[in-house]
Amino acid sequence: MSASIVTVETTQQLTDNLIIQLPSAGVALQGRIQVPGDKSISHRALMLGAIAQGETQIQGLLLGEDPRSTAECFRAMGAEISDLNTQMVRVKGIGLGQLQEPVDVLNAGNSGTTLRLMLGLLASHPGRLFTVTGDSSLRSRPMSRVVKPLQQMGAHIWGRKDATLAPLAVQGQSLQPIHYQSPIASAQVKSCILLAGLMSEGQTTVTEPSLSRDHSERMLKAFGAQISTDPDSNSVTITGGATLQGQTVIVPGDISSAAFWLVAAAIVPGSELLIENVGVNPTRTGVLDALEMMGADITLEDQHVVAGEPVADLRVRYGKLHSCTIAGDIIPRLIDEIPVLAVAAAFASGTTVIKDAEELRVKESDRITAIATELNKMGAKVTELPDGLEITGNSSLTGTEVDSYSDHRIAMSLAIASLNAKGKTTVRGAEAASISYPTFVSTLKHACGEV
Ligand code: S3P
Repeated sequence: MSASIVTVETTQQLTDNLIIQLPSAGVALQGRIQVPGDKSISHRALMLGAIAQGETQIQGLLLGEDPRSTAECFRAMGAEISDLNTQMVRVKGIGLGQLQEPVDVLNAGNSGTTLRLMLGLLASHPGRLFTVTGDSSLRSRPMSRVVKPLQQMGAHIWGRKDATLAPLAVQGQSLQPIHYQSPIASAQVKSCILLAGLMSEGQTTVTEPSLSRDHSERMLKAFGAQISTDPDSNSVTITGGATLQGQTVIVPGDISSAAFWLVAAAIVPGSELLIENVGVNPTRTGVLDALEMMGADITLEDQHVVAGEPVADLRVRYGKLHSCTIAGDIIPRLIDEIPVLAVAAAFASGTTVIKDAEELRVKESDRITAIATELNKMGAKVTELPDGLEITGNSSLTGTEVDSYSDHRIAMSLAIASLNAKGKTTVRGAEAASISYPTFVSTLKHACGEV
């Protein structure tokens, strides 16, 4: 096999620490690694900490760009949040209903979770005006999914294209509780309405077609909210008016970040990795189920519960993969991992079909088009479906220049694909990884024995 160079290049300049040179294609990944804190839990810890009474201490907060956007927004509304670059981040809560009118536009950056969850809180702060925006990707993503139910509760929201796109202006109101039947399984929609329900008198219920991640429910309960779930109907009910009390939150490693290493070790011969301290909340472990369906050798070790969230070490060893079908209720449990699962499928025997995942078209990029186009440039056989992908595997990939679409998960998925490709791969715009995984490149070097 010819020598392989994986080049992770920024759009501005190529710096030494962003170039990874692997001695030969298919270098085995070995050792123990840790992944950064869970992004979903990090956002929620900052937000609930800000609206609770007393101090919240957060250990293991993700230091990516997205949680930084959340911290900046809540600082601008009066919450005291300590330097994020410390082991224990402290949030001095200002109490429910006490967010201050910010003197400038709130900027959620690239983060849909920041903007959508925050809207539920802003809309329910009577007498205050908020304006919110984001980067060009976020300004093109659909906001009607949260604006509509909030308007049903009585929210006053204005914005481009009939308030379906950011920037948005929100005039806070006293909101009415609702029972909202969400047409999509989305934790951002569910959490937005629950946060609005916190400030409404009476019971607010959200029912979703299949269960999305339940970190909000778990954390709201821990902070003292009155919240109950009905698993038979995928419903959750919150009663407004409770006082939230600051807590200690220990953020587990993000399974969405661990997914890159699970796939890397599964496809590169001779690999074995132990990924320590990963969150294995059942609403997030679809990637483990999908890789198991494909025949991957993954075991869970040292399973325990930390601060209300299940955690485990994940051991993964190389093994031959085969195709599978990924569709239906499993989709919300692995929605963010589909790009890297497509990489796994490109090296598996048979044809893998991914369906019911039309949500991928409205993520940080259109991830169906992005991953299909870029993997095909490397020689994979990927066909776009309206709601997913068809991937004929056992491909021999060849390195080339590929594009991240400024999407963190596309950038990292392509870097993983390049580990098993012949020749040099350059990922354009790979700095997008810093949204959720600022240390991705150094961990990749470490796992490849480069450090
Ligand atoms: C998230 C929910 C998911 C996920 C996103 C984070 C969250 O989005 O894709 O990365 O933290 O609530 P949807 O709720 O739109 O499915």
